[in-house]
Amino acid sequence: MNFLHQHQVISKLNSFVFSFFFLFFLNLSAQDGDASKGQALFKTNCTACHALDSKLIGPPLKGIGDLRSEDYIFNQITNPAEWVKTNPDAKKVFEEYGKIPMTAFPQLTKDDVKNIIAYTKVGDEGVAPAADATAVVSTVIGQTDAEIPAQNSNWWWQPIVVLVLAGLVFFFARKKLSIIAIFFTIVLLLSAAYFLFAWLMQIGVDSGYKPVQPIEFSHKVHAGDNAIDCQYCHSSAKRSKTSGIPSADVCMNCHKFINEYKGEVYGGHDKAFFDGEIAKVQKAAGWDKSKFAYSDNGKSIEWVRIHNLPDFAYYNHSQHVTVAGLACQTCHGPVEGMHRVEQFSQLTMHWCLDCHKTTPVKLDENGYYKGTYEEFAKGHKGATVADMGGRECGKCHF
Ligand code: HEC
Ligand code: HEC
Ligand code: HEC
Ligand code: HEC
Ligand code: HEC
Ligand code: HEC
Repeated sequence: MNFLHQHQVISKLNSFVFSFFFLFFLNLSAQDGDASKGQALFKTNCTACHALDSKLIGPPLKGIGDLRSEDYIFNQITNPAEWVKTNPDAKKVFEEYGKIPMTAFPQLTKDDVKNIIAYTKVGDEGVAPAADATAVVSTVIGQTDAEIPAQNSNWWWQPIVVLVLAGLVFFFARKKLSIIAIFFTIVLLLSAAYFLFAWLMQIGVDSGYKPVQPIEFSHKVHAGDNAIDCQYCHSSAKRSKTSGIPSADVCMNCHKFINEYKGEVYGGHDKAFFDGEIAKVQKAAGWDKSKFAYSDNGKSIEWVRIHNLPDFAYYNHSQHVTVAGLACQTCHGPVEGMHRVEQFSQLTMHWCLDCHKTTPVKLDENGYYKGTYEEFAKGHKGATVADMGGRECGKCHF
């Protein structure tokens, strides 16, 4: 079991244990109001691309319920690909936002959507702080690993719970009400054990796995600010199994000429640091900028791999990028906004299957289904990937 796989399993376990425990508590505070549940859902699923008041990858969503009907929002959230095709307003927004497809959340219910709308009306100020804990209960597939620390960072109330319980034990013991004291002692021990367990679990959750790279290469600077196409560097995504990481030669197409960084500095570094990072790229390529020529063979840059499925699962980029026509962001999130890439989706089997269950195969506008598959395509309008066998074990496991 490699590292990544392990942390995914741990995070799964963690949310499961959490759900169990918090559901219990939540029942006691069910009148908590919908906005707080909406806040949790929003923070778990939407903040990678949306803020309430400002544009991110998607439009600001403050008071979206006043602008759009509940049905509109429900459709947009559960099946955006279809919705932006059928609804003219949605289509307009889609075009305005650079035709970046929004992730689908087919697992969200009408009630979930109502809660989200309630939250976008009142914002964070309108929600009681304790509500953060609910985020974990609403854990849905497709949740980003990146959101996990935000949920788990709210630990302040746990020592308070333990102290209050200890107080109760003490109080009832003094009153010689030993049955009640024993009851609270048991609750105390259980919660303390649970908190300890949850805390230990949290250590393993390397949320949004985001390793330090040998060169501080920023996707925001390249794919965002300078709008370099993803496939310029990840050119094999279109035609092969892997997307591949560009070699230093690809970097040199530009960095023969670009020796310094004049853009906005970030991460607490100064301009000299970034100039040094560019020099590292040139050195790796064996480029001598004083002679404007390659002086030696250089040596490859040892990028740290971020995404990694276990060997027993087969995944193919060209099938998804070229045949299915999916945008990179659907699975990798808003990479063009990240200085340092992090894993966006959980890459669990459930995640693969969930999309296959709900996504229709593009039989028409697709070269792949011309010729050999043409007859087949005629008889299968509206078929999902699952209908075509995309949930058969053998497709992903040999
Ligand atoms: C991967 C990025 C991404 C995620 C995650 C995401 N969205 Fe979006 N969303 C977009 C983009 C891009 C648009 C605009 C293009 C479009 O309409 O598809 C959009 C549009 C919308 C719209 C339509 C706004 C309008 O005026 O028509 C709504 C509503 C919305 N998102 C809600 C949500 C909610 C709620 C969530 C979380 C459950 C969410 N989105 C998660 C990227 C995202
Ligand atoms: C200028 C070249 C360049 C461009 C443009 C670029 N990338 Fe990358 N990408 C890299 C390099 C180099 C790495 C390895 C270092 C790193 O992780 O930052 C990488 C890593 C990644 C990874 C993580 C790979 C892993 O180890 O699992 C993903 C995902 C990714 N890129 C997606 C994208 C997407 C999506 C876009 C477009 C929005 C994009 N890239 C644009 C050069 C580029
Ligand atoms: C298509 C052109 C192009 C390619 C290819 C390219 N870069 Fe850049 N790079 C730029 C531009 C433009 C800047 C910003 C210059 C500025 O703002 O002054 C930049 C800035 C940088 C910086 C400093 C800012 C930052 O990202 O932290 C580093 C480091 C860097 N590039 C590394 C790389 C590496 C490594 C590769 C190959 C994987 C690469 N570049 C490929 C155009 C390119
Ligand atoms: C359907 C989801 C999906 C889409 C769409 C997608 N990827 Fe990936 N990507 C993955 C998965 C899953 C992995 C891990 C593959 C593995 O470990 O074998 C991955 C891995 C990567 C890697 C690491 C190196 C590799 O090839 O394994 C890079 C780089 C990358 N993707 C870039 C991109 C770019 C660029 C695009 C758009 C052109 C894109 N991806 C579209 C799911 C996706
Ligand atoms: C965002 C949606 C999405 C996600 C996530 C996704 N897929 Fe797919 N996948 C598709 C679509 C759409 C197709 C259909 C492409 C076509 O027309 O053949 C497909 C096709 C496939 C096929 C070919 C199926 C067949 O019947 O020939 C395999 C294998 C596959 N995906 C594996 C994976 C694996 C493994 C993962 C997870 C690591 C994954 N997919 C995640 C959308 C997705
Ligand atoms: C669309 C692709 C896809 C299909 C279809 C699929 N799997 Fe998987 N499976 C995966 C991926 C990806 C993983 C690795 C998930 C991870 O690392 O968490 C996986 C993991 C597993 C595991 C390891 C346990 C786990 O959850 O990590 C088992 C067992 C498994 N699959 C069995 C099956 C069986 C049985 C079927 C048929 C009913 C099946 N798979 C169909 C993609 C698929």
